[in-house]
Amino acid sequence: MPALYLPDEAATRAFAAALAPRLRAGDVLCLDGPLGAGKTTLVRALVEALGGDPSQVASPTFTLLHQYHCHPPMIHIDAYRLSGPGDLDGLGFEELAEGAISAIEWSQRVAAALACWRCWRLVLDHEGRGRTVAVLEPA
Ligand SMILES: Nc1ncnc2c1ncn2[C@@H]1O[C@H](COP(=O)(O)OP(=O)(O)O)[C@@H](O)[C@H]1O
Ligand SMILES: [Mg+2]
Repeated sequence: MPALYLPDEAATRAFAAALAPRLRAGDVLCLDGPLGAGKTTLVRALVEALGGDPSQVASPTFTLLHQYHCHPPMIHIDAYRLSGPGDLDGLGFEELAEGAISAIEWSQRVAAALACWRCWRLVLDHEGRGRTVAVLEPA
């Protein structure tokens, strides 16, 4: 997987702006990479690129699923807080995901529940003061 270099948050926003028009309702963004790699920052940039309010975006902790008003709407899950794929059922993920773009941080923890969706795999990492993102498009 080739990786893009994102030297700063402005680069992350530019990446999100380029990706946003290619996303459609029912797509799932599988976001992986270590703590601080920029997963939540990328979700915030996507909400902005899709016409929503980026200030609404925060890591889903107490509320395990966030919904953002943008076009299409987005849902945001941090699977670090879940014990496994079965937890997605309790959040009503399937119903919500059909009409939205879903962003799932630490997606590997719930990978078994995501196989049937149109998945984008986005792997972020630290690189100096910036970040990298490797992109695997849906088949
Ligand atoms: N492309 C980037 N270059 C430099 N710093 C970034 C970049 N993207 C995000 N950051 C910074 O990384 C920190 C952690 O970002 P966050 O999105 O919360 O990571 P994660 O959700 O992966 O834990 C934040 O301080 C953010 O400003
Ligand atoms: Mg995060």
